[in-house]
Amino acid sequence: MRKKIVAGNWKMNQDYQSGLSLFSEVVNMVSDEITGDQLVIVCSPFIHLNSLVQLKKAGVNVFIGAQNCHQEESGAYTGEISAQMLKSAGVEYVILGHSERRQYFEESDELLSKKVNTALKNGLKPIFCIGETLTERNASIHFDVVKAQLEKGLFHLSAEEFSSIILAYEPVWAIGTGLTATPEQAQEIHAFIRKIIAEKYGQQVADDTTILYGGSCNPKNANDLFSQADIDGGLIGGASLKSRDFTDIIKALN
Ligand code: G3P
Repeated sequence: MRKKIVAGNWKMNQDYQSGLSLFSEVVNMVSDEITGDQLVIVCSPFIHLNSLVQLKKAGVNVFIGAQNCHQEESGAYTGEISAQMLKSAGVEYVILGHSERRQYFEESDELLSKKVNTALKNGLKPIFCIGETLTERNASIHFDVVKAQLEKGLFHLSAEEFSSIILAYEPVWAIGTGLTATPEQAQEIHAFIRKIIAEKYGQQVADDTTILYGGSCNPKNANDLFSQADIDGGLIGGASLKSRDFTDIIKALN
């Protein structure tokens, strides 16, 4: 079912105590703001996850996500974390396909499709990131790029499996740059993404898919972005590290 979601991606930020404090501030500030079909997901580094699960308030739609998981179930993969471990710690979501992992850790479409399978098999809901680079947009191949990322990363799934996916369109050129896509630019490609999903899985699945925007979303531009027909919320980096900014973005869901 399509939901209105603001997810925070802390990336590699917040030591243990500051992360717990940030989370507690956010939960206290938004508890009365989140209604109905709205969700908040906080995706912290691994060290915080189980503590954040313990800090969650019953009945408040704030959930916990990880920023990655390994594609294998278990084994000799020093330093890695499995989907089963995350689920056992009370984690419910996992970001996969983030451009920083595609770039810095060379995560291919094929590897990501395996990570999606393992996450789903272990009861995690993937927040699957797609988006083009500045070079690709300037070459006007951004629609082709996003379509290929969808097809290679997700379109092996059944319609039922796909219904657990949250999509995040994150133009790489907008991530951490302060250069946000305009609402019109974002709406255009979100509508395209929904059309591609409808062609693959049918209109109902497409209509039920949550598609978030990510890339320099902040309290000043969130309202204009979230008011677009095919933008269902945001995946927030820098602004999620400040409780007031993150809360103001959450309020823009209304
Ligand atoms: O995953 C969200 C992130 O990539 C966006 O970062 O700092 O531009 O909001 P930021």
